[in-house]
Amino acid sequence: MIAQRLAPFGTTIFTEMTLLANKHGAVNLAQGFPDFDGPSFFLDAAAEALQGGQNQYARMFGLPALNRALADRWQRATGAEIDPDAQVTVTSGCTEAIAAAMLGLVNPGDEVILFEPFYDSYRASVAMAGGVPRFVTLREPTGAPRDGLAAPGAFWFDPDELRRAFSDRTRLILINTPHNPTGKVFTREELTLAADLCTRNNAIALTDEVYEHLTYEPDQPHIRMATLPGMAERTLTLSSLGKTFSLTGWKIGWAIGTPDLTRAVRAAHQFLTFATATPLQAAAASALARTDDCDHAIGSLVADLKAARGLLAGALARLGFGVHIPAGAYFILADFTRRPGALRPDNVPDDAAFCRSLPAAAGVAAVPPSVFYQNRGLGAGLVRFAFCKRPATLHEAVRRLGVWATDRRADQ
Ligand SMILES: Cc1ncc(COP(=O)(O)O)c(C=O)c1O
Repeated sequence: MIAQRLAPFGTTIFTEMTLLANKHGAVNLAQGFPDFDGPSFFLDAAAEALQGGQNQYARMFGLPALNRALADRWQRATGAEIDPDAQVTVTSGCTEAIAAAMLGLVNPGDEVILFEPFYDSYRASVAMAGGVPRFVTLREPTGAPRDGLAAPGAFWFDPDELRRAFSDRTRLILINTPHNPTGKVFTREELTLAADLCTRNNAIALTDEVYEHLTYEPDQPHIRMATLPGMAERTLTLSSLGKTFSLTGWKIGWAIGTPDLTRAVRAAHQFLTFATATPLQAAAASALARTDDCDHAIGSLVADLKAARGLLAGALARLGFGVHIPAGAYFILADFTRRPGALRPDNVPDDAAFCRSLPAAAGVAAVPPSVFYQNRGLGAGLVRFAFCKRPATLHEAVRRLGVWATDRRADQ
């Protein structure tokens, strides 16, 4: 029954892995959401909004107070003053913002440049808009002091591959930084190259910055594409509350850009969802206005996540995985092929088989990254673990993986 444009994408891998995790009582490190709650001042604000009668449709492009709060945050982050009513659109999560941007900006046949591995909604959103995806590969670090224009040890791309991906049919490039699943934080040089190519080809930069606050290395800060010279004119910045405040179920997202880009997003948004849940918008507006509390909440989340990253990365390395330490977001990509017995008899790694077996064998669930690649073989030796979990959850996962690894050694 599924229409041709969506049939190729099937059911997302997260659904499949969560079903498996539940079936085997596994610790779920597959899905990218926290197993702890967001800050209490957000939760209290939501209860107040619900009880306070804020329960009818909101304005199509966002509750005025939330647009204002988001514009204020933008000014604090970038120094640029923007018009909250003409340049900010509130959406149902960043996922809706991605779809609305594609539908509002891409004509059938237009080319859209995506980096692989990619967040799974990108390709489907391009397909819904009738766009043609062009892929640029983020490659595993080689161990050289620096690959391409990337930070040392980070996933990287070949600048010439990016140059070749642009053509006179390019409508936009989608850049996700900090990046899921590699943990890469794009450097200023990488963004500058992409910005120059956008300018030269009259293309738009669409940025997915949902992990904008989740970075762990002081020398690899998050850089907003819209702050590069000339790029405020051609960048549409997308983000959401979900990752920053551990409120993924609220689905409060937004798109920020010029009035022209904003009109395009709204052209689609008004017919996708029209408006986003009013009480949660009201709660977000009043909680975001408490800027000191927000800064404190983000600071403590980042400290916790950094400790979680250290715990999981250290354990995986001791178990024999090749661990890529992420500079941002909250996932670790680990090479499982270095573990004895990890390869198929024909010497080919298969991350899907590995991840399907893990819940039953080890009592831990993870995601096979090949689903994030167009060229699936590139992810076949990797496994993605989420570390946005309570210390007790991670300790239990590490304990179980340790038992599994010992059993496997005994079997061999
Ligand atoms: C890169 C990226 N973009 C967007 C999203 C979804 O954001 P939201 O929950 O705000 O729709 C995710 C969630 O995992 C993500 O990893």
